[in-house]
Amino acid sequence: MNEHIQIERRGAIQSIRMNRPDKKNAITRAMYAAMAEALAAGDGDPDICCHVILGVPGAFSSGNDLADFMTVATGGEGGREVYDFLLALAKSQKPIVSGVDGIAVGIGTTINLHCDLTFATPRTEFRTPFVDLGLVPEAGSSLLAPAVIGRQQAFALLGLGEGFTAERAKEAGLIYAVVSEAELEAAVFEAAERIASKPPEALKIARDFLLGDRAPLIARIEEEGVQFRNRLKSDEARNAFMAFMSRKK
Ligand code: COA
Repeated sequence: MNEHIQIERRGAIQSIRMNRPDKKNAITRAMYAAMAEALAAGDGDPDICCHVILGVPGAFSSGNDLADFMTVATGGEGGREVYDFLLALAKSQKPIVSGVDGIAVGIGTTINLHCDLTFATPRTEFRTPFVDLGLVPEAGSSLLAPAVIGRQQAFALLGLGEGFTAERAKEAGLIYAVVSEAELEAAVFEAAERIASKPPEALKIARDFLLGDRAPLIARIEEEGVQFRNRLKSDEARNAFMAFMSRKK
């Protein structure tokens, strides 16, 4: 377990909450590991029918911890935790509902491409500045986003790093619904309860058909990962991380 990841059970629903508000929910290696473990545990537990992924008010996630990126950029060890988490998402056996409020940067956006239903608040902005950071899309987003929102919107999101408001994200098909901040968690849990009330075997078959063959997605996550790790060590990336780290000085 990890101090920044809260796992709770509500009946047949397992919720995973990122809770590192002072860093706008930047995700560390230990947080990825805790989330991967929770997804696997929920998948393996016949009493759990649905996963929920949440952040804190104003911050779903500011993406991967940039200090961890900097460690790799300067020759340190990166670890496989993020890939274990991404593979757990891509292989998930139970539906996933996410609730997003506020900041959703990098993996804070791409997590949602793996979710079956995403609710977001009007003040949410989805943004993936991978290229601006000298990086490349991750989490299978280069495969999922064109399929989910079409190639041109995917290019705007992943190539140009354009921010998508919740309204634009809904129009593009990236998310299921926009709800107020006050209603967000109720809407997420109500949807999760609806999912949990369905006949689980039929729902699993239906969901598996909707997801299709997951092998190409898993292969893409690994391929993107190879490029991503190389890019972390590039001058373009190192300069971008240094600019972020020194911006308040
Ligand atoms: N990694 C590590 N720390 C991060 C972080 C990240 N991805 N995002 C934010 N933080 C930290 C900040 O350094 C700051 O810490 P400090 O108070 O010790 O200085 C704290 O979280 C609050 O961030 P701040 O920038 O002051 O908040 P903001 O509301 O002005 O801006 C963001 C929020 C998310 C827009 C901005 O922090 C940002 O652009 N972060 C980087 C996002 C990013 O590039 N992620 C990687 C994508 S691949």
